[in-house]
Amino acid sequence: MTTPATLSIRCFDASDTDAVIALWQQAFPEYRDVTRPQRNPHLSIANKLATQPELFFVAVLGERIVGTVMGGYDGHRGWMYSLAVDESVRRHGIGTRLVAHVESALTALGCPKVNLQVLSARNEIRGFYEVLGYRADPVISLGKRLGELADPVPSA
Ligand SMILES: CC(C)(COP(=O)(O)OP(=O)(O)OC[C@H]1O[C@@H](n2cnc3c(N)ncnc32)[C@H](O)[C@@H]1OP(=O)(O)O)[C@@H](O)C(=O)NCCC(=O)NCCS
Repeated sequence: MTTPATLSIRCFDASDTDAVIALWQQAFPEYRDVTRPQRNPHLSIANKLATQPELFFVAVLGERIVGTVMGGYDGHRGWMYSLAVDESVRRHGIGTRLVAHVESALTALGCPKVNLQVLSARNEIRGFYEVLGYRADPVISLGKRLGELADPVPSA
């Protein structure tokens, strides 16, 4: 595994939007699923630009965006999201570099632990994270959608 020498990682810039969305649509099938309106890449980018935009990174090969990762730190835990590498350049260490980059940025903020979620339908990706030292926590992940797309709460 050799990372291309010209690879660089920098903060996302608004001019990267179209390239990043094209990459996400390739890497995350959910973004192509019209029955899941909550997966709106334009909204994800707008929300991230409003909240810790300094933790949104792109990997650039020459002039081409070939990877993304987002981090977040809430003062207790860090989170990693939207890790994606263009399928034409996978298995060259770019995903590993992106993870190391966001881990360093979170560490510099004093973040003691980073969490991430892998869709259970994409269990094979666990192998990638395990190589990097990530382990399954003994937790059940719960979630609740807020705002306009919230599910109705059943009455008791
Ligand atoms: C997961 C992903 C980011 C990995 O990017 P990458 O640049 O190919 O990863 P690396 O080259 O740094 O891989 C490093 C090592 O991780 C392991 N690895 C990488 N991809 C793997 C996979 N799909 N399954 C199991 N192990 C994997 C290998 O040991 C690899 O080393 P090797 O190539 O020498 O065998 C990329 O496959 C991707 O974008 N997938 C689609 C989006 C996605 O699922 N993101 C994660 C959401 S939780």
